[in-house]
Amino acid sequence: MTNREDALIEKILRLKEQRNAIILAHNYQLGEVQDIADFVGDSLELSQKAAKIDVDVIVFCGVHFMAETAFILSPDKTVLLPDMHAGCPMADMITAEQLREKKTELPKAVVVCYINSSAEVKAESDICCTSANAVPIIEKLSHVEEIIFVPDQYLGHYVSTKVGRRLNLWPGFCPTHVKIMPEDILRLKQRYPEAKVIVHPECRPEVTSLADEVLSTGGMCRYAAQSAAKEMIIGTEKGIIHRLRKENPDKSFIPASERAVCPNMKLINLEKILWTLEEMEHQVKVPEEIRIKAKSAVDRMLEVV
Ligand code: 13P
Ligand code: SF4
Repeated sequence: MTNREDALIEKILRLKEQRNAIILAHNYQLGEVQDIADFVGDSLELSQKAAKIDVDVIVFCGVHFMAETAFILSPDKTVLLPDMHAGCPMADMITAEQLREKKTELPKAVVVCYINSSAEVKAESDICCTSANAVPIIEKLSHVEEIIFVPDQYLGHYVSTKVGRRLNLWPGFCPTHVKIMPEDILRLKQRYPEAKVIVHPECRPEVTSLADEVLSTGGMCRYAAQSAAKEMIIGTEKGIIHRLRKENPDKSFIPASERAVCPNMKLINLEKILWTLEEMEHQVKVPEEIRIKAKSAVDRMLEVV
């Protein structure tokens, strides 16, 4: 640890105590952020945590929709996002207005929205899902004739092939995960023939079809710990490699692509965490009318898993 980190960490920990705060971090955060967090996880684990913890302040080290989900579930807490520009381009690929239009076209359809969406889009949806539970959630809807799935076409495509049913897919995608190409996987498989290939369902179908396992980031962490495999090619945002190596020092993790870096996830650092706790900025809030509707879509998801 450097002197810079030591000094910042000391101040953050003191202020965190004074504010009765908890630091939640997503698996893609910078190593220095993951290391200071009270809890590191995937979108599902982080929302479950936000729904349960008893603190006054949540410092959310992730992107905007994640902090928003924490507020939707825990409106009595102050939810802080250390950088307001940390958004998710995929979540911005659909607006509530566009979803309302789609619902008018297919009035009988049930709307399933990926948690990577705005509170307004969640409020227009029937049920939410994350990459960890999208398959069981769609399976639960076997009695439903038509499903609109927003905004990630690739997660939707993956679920649709797993469950064996057609979904109305919105053409959204993650600009970071589409950078992982099938050629990257094929090249690394040749170089590391013993390695297992683990990818995120936000990857292109040509990539998921080459994988041994398609998992959420939390699922990847569990798989890495339990698997007998000693080498793994990891097809997701590179930040997760920090946690995988830290928790499994005897195993080797190879990023599928050096280009798979989410610039939004990297906006948060120790300086910004300290600033957010000092100034109690930026607070993430959702208007009550939207929050209540969005919460029922998130609650329905949490009931299933
Ligand atoms: P997970 O829920 O699997 O962590 O994914 C979140 C995300 O933004 C993936 O790009
Ligand atoms: Fe959004 Fe992709 Fe970044 Fe995840 S990795 S937060 S889906 S842009």
